[in-house]
This record gives sequence, structure tokens and C-alpha cells, in this order.
Amino acid sequence: MGALAGKVAVITGGNSGIGLATAKRFVEEGAYVFITARRQAELDKALSLIGENVTAITGDLSKLDDIDVIAAAVKAEKGVVDIIVSNAGFTEQAALEAITPEHFDKTFNLMARAPVFLVQKLLPLMHRGGSIILVSSAMHIMGIPNHTAYAAAKAATRSYARTWAAEFKGRGIRVNTLSPGVTDTPILDSQSELAGRDEVVKMYLDMIPIGRLAEAVEIANAAVFLGSEQSSYVTGADLMADGGVGQV
Ligand SMILES: NC(=O)c1ccc[n+]([C@@H]2O[C@H](COP(=O)([O-])OP(=O)(O)OC[C@H]3O[C@@H](n4cnc5c(N)ncnc54)[C@H](OP(=O)(O)O)[C@@H]3O)[C@@H](O)[C@H]2O)c1
Repeated sequence: MGALAGKVAVITGGNSGIGLATAKRFVEEGAYVFITARRQAELDKALSLIGENVTAITGDLSKLDDIDVIAAAVKAEKGVVDIIVSNAGFTEQAALEAITPEHFDKTFNLMARAPVFLVQKLLPLMHRGGSIILVSSAMHIMGIPNHTAYAAAKAATRSYARTWAAEFKGRGIRVNTLSPGVTDTPILDSQSELAGRDEVVKMYLDMIPIGRLAEAVEIANAAVFLGSEQSSYVTGADLMADGGVGQV
């Protein structure tokens, strides 16, 4: 029997990179997954890649109405959620002098505000044994130039895990952050907007003790651990699957 047999999961950003790999691994482990994202064509591709036990919901998480639509769809189809993986994200680099209110708000709306309302709206469907996984980043404990808003938004999610782990005391719902290191996904193309992709990858490779980028499935495996009973005594924690980049 799979580690997630019978579980229902909602995975935001489930049509690409870490979210897609997580959806695939969750289904392999016996879960039913709802994947959400904005791009319909990429959602359709993800549906056929995952193959079974998956529903796609289209929505922009920076819009509260779209989060309502996601919660309503999950309620109507399954009525419960056991695992939330708040994963959708993007990077847009900016030196402090170049930060605009639009850049700041866009970053915080998706990566600091949306997780709060996503969890708030799905929480009524979650019961004892629930697991909330907030995808943060090793960058939340690092100082990498040009990531003022991104790193701070990721630090906010790490803070939510502590607060909600305490707030849900006795309710049997665990909350953790999962902090990937540099992972080979399409997000690296946007990481490379201020320098070429090769240059950016080389800069990171010089910093990573394991000596390579992560594959998305390696982060997905950490999500399986946090979503399953294998992590039954883990809450309020930050699981850093970062090849050591944030540890040395
Ligand atoms: N890859 C890394 O090196 C790395 C390292 C640390 C942390 N992370 C974090 O891991 C998470 C996943 O990133 P990834 O590397 O898998 O990147 P990715 O392949 O670019 O995936 C990003 C996902 O977020 C979705 N998304 C973006 N904006 C959205 C919005 N406004 N509303 C709804 N969905 C939205 C995208 O789908 P649509 O565009 O279709 O909406 C896509 O599914 C992010 O939170 C990222 O910050 C990544």
C-alpha cells in the first residue's frame, strides 16, 4: 500500500516543476490530487502525464475569488482534503533600487498572501491527520542579492508554519515548510533574467555541497514524507531539501 493511500491532496502550481513532480509522486503513493495553476494548456499536459486520480482546477492564486473557486471545486468533488501543498511561485529579481510597488505586491500576493487564504478556505475540509506543506525556499535563510521580496515572502511562509502548528494544537493537523535548494525546473529561466542561465547555474553549483542541482522528484519525495504518516511527529518544522546550500 502506498504511503498516501486514500488521501486527497491539493497541490498549487501542479502543472510544472516541483508541483507536477509532487502530484505524480502523490498519485504513485495512492493519493487523489487536485492540481491548480493558471495556464490551461500546461494543466492539460499535466493531466495526461499524471494519468489517473487527478483533477485540474484553473485559477490565479493572487485573486481571492479564484481561491474560492478552488476550495469550492474540492468541496464539491471530494468534500475533504488531507494534504495541502502550497507550492505556486515565481521569481522576478530586482536590486533594491529597482524594486517597484508592483513587483513587491506581485511577489507578496502570490507567495505570502495566497498561502494564508488558500489554507483558510481549505481548512474547513481538513480533519485530524491533515498535513499542510508550505513550499518555501532555502533562500529564506540566505542573503542572495536581488531577491529582497522573494526571500522575504518565503520567510513569511516559514513563519506561518510555526504559528499554525501552534494554533492547530490538539487538532491533529501538522504544518511544515519544505525548503528546496536550486532545483532544475522552468523557474530557473526567470532566475536567469539578470544573467545568463549557465552563469546562474554555475554560481549556484559553486555554492552547493552536493555539487549539482536538485531534480524536482527529489523535492517531491520530501513532500511525500511530510504528507504521510512517516512524518507523524514533525510539525512547525522546516525540511530543507537543499543539497546543503543553505547549511554551510
Ligand atoms: N526551482 C527552484 O530552484 C526552487 C528553489 C526554491 C524554492 N522553489 C519554490 O518552489 C515552488 C515551485 O517552483 P518550481 O521551481 O516548480 O517553478 P515552476 O516550474 O516555474 O512552477 C511554478 C508554478 O507556479 C504556478 N503559478 C505561478 N504563478 C501563479 C499564479 N499567480 N497563480 C497560480 N499559479 C501560479 C505556475 O503555473 P501557471 O504559470 O500555469 O500559473 C507553475 O505551476 C515555488 O514556490 C518556488 O518559489 C523553487
